[in-house]
Amino acid sequence: MDKIIIQGGERLHGEITISGSKNAALPIIASSLLTEGWNTFHNVPNLADIKTIKKLLMNLGVNIDGDNPLRLNADHITNCEASYNLVKTMRASILVLGPLVARMGRARVSLPGGCAIGARPVNLHLKALKEMGADIDLKGGYVEAKASKLKGSKIYFDIPTVTGTENIMMAATLAEGTTLLENSAREPEVVNLAHVLNQMGAKIRGAGTDMIEIEGVTSLHPVEEMIIPDRIEAGTYMIAAGLTNGDVKIMGCEPGHLDSLITKLTEAGIEITSIPGGLRVTGKKKITGVDIKTLPYPGFPTDLQAQMIVLMSVANGISVIRETVFENRFMHVNELLRMGADIIVEGNSAVVRGVPRLRGAPVMATDLRASASLILAGLAAEGTTELSRVYHIDRGYECIEEKLSSLGANIRRVKE
Ligand code: UD1
Repeated sequence: MDKIIIQGGERLHGEITISGSKNAALPIIASSLLTEGWNTFHNVPNLADIKTIKKLLMNLGVNIDGDNPLRLNADHITNCEASYNLVKTMRASILVLGPLVARMGRARVSLPGGCAIGARPVNLHLKALKEMGADIDLKGGYVEAKASKLKGSKIYFDIPTVTGTENIMMAATLAEGTTLLENSAREPEVVNLAHVLNQMGAKIRGAGTDMIEIEGVTSLHPVEEMIIPDRIEAGTYMIAAGLTNGDVKIMGCEPGHLDSLITKLTEAGIEITSIPGGLRVTGKKKITGVDIKTLPYPGFPTDLQAQMIVLMSVANGISVIRETVFENRFMHVNELLRMGADIIVEGNSAVVRGVPRLRGAPVMATDLRASASLILAGLAAEGTTELSRVYHIDRGYECIEEKLSSLGANIRRVKE
C-alpha cells in the first residue's frame, strides 16, 4: 500500500486549477442510464470513485469510452444488479437504483451498510420509491425494487439527503405524472444534475431550493454537458493556503458555492479576494479561532469539517466545531492529538484549543475527508508526517501530491 510523506513547514504559493466535482459527476454519470444514445460529459475528475461507478455501469451493460470527456451509451442494459463488491467500496453506488427502476422497471442493489462516518442509511431513498409505487423488498443484503411504471407523488424527506434527492429526482423524470420533493437537498451538485436532466428533456423546476417539482416525460435523449468544479477540493486548498500562511490562486472554482467557507475563513483573519477566473487566498501569521456548525447546503459543509479542525488546531483561542450531519465524523481527531493538537470531543462537538504548532507523526486515515485533513496537518506541522491508507484520498482528490508540490509543498508518495 502507498504512503504519503510530508515534510511540513513550507508556505504554499502559486496557482492551482480545481478539478470537476466528484459528487456532481457520480449522479450525472448514473443519469446516463436514463437515455439511449451516447452521452458526453466534460470536466470529469480522474478519481477512484469515478472508476468505481464506471465499472458498475459497465457491469450493467453500459458502453463507456474515454475518461475526460467521458462518453456513455446505455442502449442495451443487460443487467439490473449492483453487487455488494462494488457498493461496499462506494456508497454512492446506490445512485443507480432510481434510474434503473425508472428505465427498466426493476433493480437489485446491495445495501451500503455502515461506514467510518456513521450509519448512513438509505431508508429515505427507499421510502420515496415506495411512495412512487415501487415494490421494495430486502433480501440477502440487497434491495430489490420493482415498478412497471413509477407514479408521480408528493414526497417529504425527513432529512434533506443529497443522494436521496438525486436518486428520486432521476427516478421521477420518467414517472407518470408530477412528483414534488419537499425538504429536498439544495446542494450545487443537485442543481448540476437537474440541469443535465433538463437538457436530456426532463421537466424539473426548483432545483437549488427545498421544493423540487418534476413532471414525468416518456423518454429522455442524450446530451453533452459539463461537470461543475469541485467545491470541496477548492475549499480544502483554500484552507491549506490559510493554514500555511500562504498565497494561493484557486482557479476554475465557483466562488458562489463557497460562501459559508469564505465567511468563516475571513472571520479567522484569512484574506480572500475575487480574481478573474477564481479566488486568491492569502494567509496571515495569526489565525483567529472561529466556531463552526456543519449543516446541509448553504450551511457549512460537513465535507470540510475535518480540514477546518486542523486550521483551528493552530489558531489563537478556542473554537467549537459542531457536526450535525453525520454522527461519527471526528475520527481524524485522535490522529491530530498524536500530532500535538489539543481537542476534546463531546457528543457531536469538538472543542479545539489552538496550539502554537503541530508536530509530524505517522498517521492513518479513516475516510476521504479525514485523509485530506491529515495531509493539511502534515503541511503545517514541524517535521515529517507519514500518512498511510492513502487509498481514501485517491477516492476524492485528483493528483493531490502534484497539485500541492506545484505550490511548493514537500510531499511525495512512496510504495510500502
Ligand atoms: C452526500 C455526499 C457526501 C456528503 C453528504 C452530506 C455524495 C456522493 N456524497 O452523501 O460527500 O458528506 O452528502 O453533505 O454526494 N440519511 C438518512 N436516511 C437516508 C439518507 C440519509 O437518515 O436515506 C441521513 C444520513 O445518515 C446523514 C444525513 O441524512 O445523517 C445526510 O446524508 P446524505 O445527504 O444522504 O449524504 P449522502 O448523500 O450519502
